[in-house]
Amino acid sequence: MSEMTRRQSLLLLSSALAAPALLRARPAFAAEGRALTLPPLDEGRLEGGLRQFDLKIAAGETEFFAGQATDTIGINAPFLGPVLKARAGDRLRLNVTNDLAEQAALHWHGLHLPAAMDGGPHQPVAPGTVWAPEFNLMQKAGTFWFHAHQHGMTGAHVWAGLAGVIRVEDEEEASLPLPRTYGEDDFTLILQDRRFDAGFQIPYAPQMHDKMSGLIGEQMLVNGQIGAFLPVSAPLIRLRILNGANGSIYRLHFAGGAVFHQIASDGGLLPAPVALTEALMAPGERAEYLVDMSAGAPLMLKAEVFGAESSFAGPVGTRDVIELRPARAQSAAALPARLAELAPPADQTGDMRTFTLAMTGMGLMGDFTINGAVYDHGRTDFTVPLGASETWVFENKTEMLHPMHIHDVQFRILSRNGRPPELREAGLKDVVLTHPGERVELRLSFADYADPASPYMMHCHILEHEDAGMMQQFTVV
Ligand code: C2O
Ligand code: CU
Ligand code: CU
Repeated sequence: MSEMTRRQSLLLLSSALAAPALLRARPAFAAEGRALTLPPLDEGRLEGGLRQFDLKIAAGETEFFAGQATDTIGINAPFLGPVLKARAGDRLRLNVTNDLAEQAALHWHGLHLPAAMDGGPHQPVAPGTVWAPEFNLMQKAGTFWFHAHQHGMTGAHVWAGLAGVIRVEDEEEASLPLPRTYGEDDFTLILQDRRFDAGFQIPYAPQMHDKMSGLIGEQMLVNGQIGAFLPVSAPLIRLRILNGANGSIYRLHFAGGAVFHQIASDGGLLPAPVALTEALMAPGERAEYLVDMSAGAPLMLKAEVFGAESSFAGPVGTRDVIELRPARAQSAAALPARLAELAPPADQTGDMRTFTLAMTGMGLMGDFTINGAVYDHGRTDFTVPLGASETWVFENKTEMLHPMHIHDVQFRILSRNGRPPELREAGLKDVVLTHPGERVELRLSFADYADPASPYMMHCHILEHEDAGMMQQFTVV
């Protein structure tokens, strides 16, 4: 049998096997969904100037499909975790209990903090133990997140459910006329997708192709729910969207092409709302959008789904994400004209570093490399002097898309192939999607925290790429 025929017959075989399950499953997700549930809002408890959160990582069961239990992992919940709400300037302590039978790590994505508190692959939490990092919350108001980061296991653990959102508030944001009442006019949406097997399970089993493209599921999830809708009563709503997928890059748009406004990027508010009809969001990215619901007509949010290789293979498909269902027509609310003060990018005072993203080997058999190397847990790739403002350049020499993420900092995108970034990504960022052949320049400042013993990570946020070694580590000294 030729390779092609064998592959085709395997595909046929597996779809034949899967057919009965799909038929059984279809009524459950085609049925008019329920109203979306938001993750519980957890404000922690204030004790002697410390805002403490208790986070327990544990295995559980989730009913994605009515009457069917799926094995999952979550944080204070069977799948995913709470929205942690805190104020800029708070001192935080996160009491992370690992109730799994294996090591896990929990990383505070987007936060500026000491490397030893970062929850990366050098801070694994052993089964049955508690890890309690403590640090000052130094962000501006915005939407951040936390997720699994165990060495080599990030993809598997996030897929199983280890992720949650961090909502940071501050005075500047509070002074603006923006929707901010959780669950009323301000909604946190965690976008993911999963591949269910015939037994309604979501085993983490990326095939060769998934390791290249990033693992993409056929079933769209919003806050861990399938086919839910969002009832809306306010004329203007704020969607805080996290792309929490392993490998999917979502191009969001409304059916019918409605205009919406982006007000925040990864690290906080933009200087002014940016009108869009579509928004590309890669894994790890967050954005906040204002949507005018005053016309009273339902709006279906859709996502064109791209994998890393979509640059040449085209989108994987278009999925319904969630329908926004307004109760009635009402008069429109005005958008604020100005949002946050945003200083220009810092001047470069330190080095310029170039990171070449490439592939070794041939076709689908290669490794993704950064400057010719795959990740080595025992190797610090470079050191940055404390206080330096550097320019980092990602040169994507692959034919794939790579969303590059840097721990510890919020950076600014200076240019893409010599051109200034679009307004929607000209603010604070911690993930930048790099396209094939592209050269992206960033400015980043390394302040406050130095520790020669604890590295920070820089990696592709397609979790299958990260776990395969598309990651470097650096210390600030
Ligand atoms: Cu979202 Cu290394 O992390
Ligand atoms: Cu991170
Ligand atoms: Cu990648």
